[in-house]
Amino acid sequence: MQPVAIYHKHFTAYLEENIQSREPRGLYDPILYILNLGGKRIRPILTLLTAEIFGKNYQEALPAALAIEVFHNFSLVHDDIMDDAPLRRGKETVHEKWNLNTGILSGDAMLILAYQYFEKYNPETFQALAKLFSKTALAVCEGQQWDVDFEVRDDVTINEYLKMIEYKTAVLVAAAMKMGAIIAQTSKENCQKIYDFGLNLGIAFQLQDDYLDAFGNPETFGKQVGGDIIENKKTYLYLKALELASAEEKNSLLDLYSIQPNDNSEKVASVKEIFIQTKSSKLTQEAIALFTEKAFTVLETLEIGDAQKSVLRKFGESLMKRDV
Ligand code: IPE
Ligand code: IPE
Ligand code: MG
Ligand code: MG
Ligand code: MG
Repeated sequence: MQPVAIYHKHFTAYLEENIQSREPRGLYDPILYILNLGGKRIRPILTLLTAEIFGKNYQEALPAALAIEVFHNFSLVHDDIMDDAPLRRGKETVHEKWNLNTGILSGDAMLILAYQYFEKYNPETFQALAKLFSKTALAVCEGQQWDVDFEVRDDVTINEYLKMIEYKTAVLVAAAMKMGAIIAQTSKENCQKIYDFGLNLGIAFQLQDDYLDAFGNPETFGKQVGGDIIENKKTYLYLKALELASAEEKNSLLDLYSIQPNDNSEKVASVKEIFIQTKSSKLTQEAIALFTEKAFTVLETLEIGDAQKSVLRKFGESLMKRDV
């Protein structure tokens, strides 16, 4: 096991080696563009780390890690179309830089490319990985559909929201870790536990993503701050605020979420003020800590050494402190 920063380095080198410019450029340039914009690479790092935690050299897990990261980036390209997002990792989104059709087709190609990396494994491992991957990818689509459905619904519950983020985000974090465990050929029980750890961490991760979408620093966040408010996303921040709001605050929040002004800055500022006044922003931070703690409780039941547990715990804690 090595420090987390080292896995980032090994992974980036592997990605650069394997993702190269090809014809037709109109299809592949956007793929190179989005993948080379960087990002935190948390999912592939978790795949490599998990393989090593269960006793396999990280190198064996590189193709699966790349599959996961290419799939993640595919989902971002299509997500940015669906969310009408102008910025990704501090740069123009693919559909803004090129156009909608490019975003769709380059995204599709990335989904197929992701599958191809599993072909590097022997038939038995291939089957286990591909099976997990298909199930996960479909769940992500289901989560994304709910996310969009919720934009125009006014009766979304916190439980529905939690299910939605479990599907759109947490299952991929969980699967990234389980793939490392599968490659390391650890027990079924360990595979299940590491999946549960990743699932809770993934829920905390999306709650934090929603928090930062409203309260992140526009200078460093890399995405349009307030994008979720502009799109009327039914986030934890919003649902908790509605639950805790006075009659007056509730009316104004509902009203703000029903308008589509040309200039959104006032809408964003007013909604954020309600998130703060109702203490929903504080409660969201508590929910992030709670799901991270849930992940740590699962971690305690894993049969791995203390050093391994400590690496995973530190990783979880660092995610809670992130501002990007
Ligand atoms: C963004 O994921 C999409 C979510 C599921 C929240 P990341 O925050 O991991 O994005 P990058 O890859 O680091 O840019
Ligand atoms: C994205 O959720 C989840 C997937 C891409 C599957 P978001 O829409 O919140 O992600 P960001 O904030 O645009 O990165
Ligand atoms: Mg989005
Ligand atoms: Mg989205
Ligand atoms: Mg978001």
